[in-house]
Amino acid sequence: MTDKPSRYASWTTGKLPLPELQELKRRGEKIVMVTAYDAPSGRLADAAGVDLILVGDSSGMVVHGRESTVPVTLDEILFMTQWVSRGASRPLVIADMPFGSYEISDEQAIGNAVRLVKEGSADAVKVERGGTSVARARAIVAAGIPVMGHVGLTPQTATVLGGFKAQGRTADRARQLIDDALELEAAGCFAIVIEAVPATVARAATKALTVPTIGIGAGADTDGQVLVWHDMLGYYEGHSPRFVKRYAEIGDAIVDALGRYASDVRSGAFPEEQHTYAMPEEERAQFQEGSRETPRVR
Ligand code: KIV
Repeated sequence: MTDKPSRYASWTTGKLPLPELQELKRRGEKIVMVTAYDAPSGRLADAAGVDLILVGDSSGMVVHGRESTVPVTLDEILFMTQWVSRGASRPLVIADMPFGSYEISDEQAIGNAVRLVKEGSADAVKVERGGTSVARARAIVAAGIPVMGHVGLTPQTATVLGGFKAQGRTADRARQLIDDALELEAAGCFAIVIEAVPATVARAATKALTVPTIGIGAGADTDGQVLVWHDMLGYYEGHSPRFVKRYAEIGDAIVDALGRYASDVRSGAFPEEQHTYAMPEEERAQFQEGSRETPRVR
């Protein structure tokens, strides 16, 4: 069993208890969230001591090579959530509700959130925007499923926002953003992601809210931070936003390894003796003897 991480007020050997997030905010300790999309990344995030894993619809762009998150389907998120949940024991796994999976009605939102929890083993779900999403969040929470909100740059509606760009940069928009976050909190959300907004606005939202804020491109004063797996590990050839800090260059390491593999195969340097299976000497002799005696069937 691993030792108790001193930063947690309560300790269980299983999942991080959800109320612990509130405790971390109260104590001024930062919450760490990262996206993940399969079992190995879930396992690695868990091993690194990450608190929350988001199975984000950013998968549509960083994993599946699409231009936006809009085409991502519920089934895609469902499968990835199953994989991540198999890999991650301690962190809470939050499944992103993709565009079109919660907008139509409370019933649709509850039905799809239930699938993510029941079939995907998600611990919680995330919805984007204020407005009509507030009622959806309330309905899902009432059905017994924890919900994370998401304000600021909400990629599912990037077209309406004028593209992938910073939000809340006028006084009016900043106030609206904080109002949205407060409404999501009142609807029962346990935390709010704030994406791509000026640090001043994220700071004010963090002060105004009782629940933790998780920032991405929102400065240093939110209660936690989230980054996209492929962006932070250099495993994505597309454009990364300016708020990304790269902690590794995994893409370069992979190209280097594949290049060495290709050259070993071409030169005959791979496979070596240690990579091949041997046969007991007696069987080998009999096999070779037999091959000489048995004429080939044509
Ligand atoms: O889909 C995603 O990865 C997200 C994060 C950027 C917060 O929503």
